[in-house]
Amino acid sequence: MNYSLSFSHPSANLYSPLRARTRTGLGEKLLRVIIEDMKQLFVKSNHVLRKVLVTTGDDNEPAKRLYEKVGFEKIAVLADLFAKGENEIVYVLTNST
Ligand SMILES: CC(C)(COP(=O)(O)OP(=O)(O)OC[C@H]1O[C@@H](n2cnc3c(N)ncnc32)[C@H](O)[C@@H]1OP(=O)(O)O)[C@@H](O)C(=O)NCCC(=O)NCCS
Repeated sequence: MNYSLSFSHPSANLYSPLRARTRTGLGEKLLRVIIEDMKQLFVKSNHVLRKVLVTTGDDNEPAKRLYEKVGFEKIAVLADLFAKGENEIVYVLTNST
């Protein structure tokens, strides 16, 4: 059986250490390790991780750039999700391995 896994506010959130916007590579490393761990966990259970979904605010440039760098594709905009004028971007990473 195949699964998709969704990380979306407020159920999960990605923060670089100390919630600092350090831009020292820690956030990217953390995200890549999480994705790789999820893949291995699924494999060990004889499953395939097909897709990872994340969301972030449209005004969060560091997070948007990070997700795009790691290979996520923008697939949708959830307009006015948490408040009027606050749009949430939905990204998906498709696992090809
Ligand atoms: C988003 C966040 C996790 C990134 O962590 P980080 O350790 O600062 O980022 P990294 O150093 O690993 O950067 C990886 C990539 O992210 C993008 N990025 C990170 N900071 C950026 C900034 N200030 N401006 C633009 N792009 C940025 C870049 O693409 C960067 O790659 P590059 O430096 O080679 O160009 C961090 O900014 C954070 O904790 N923000 C607050 C919480 C948050 O918004 N979490 C996401 C919620 S969905």
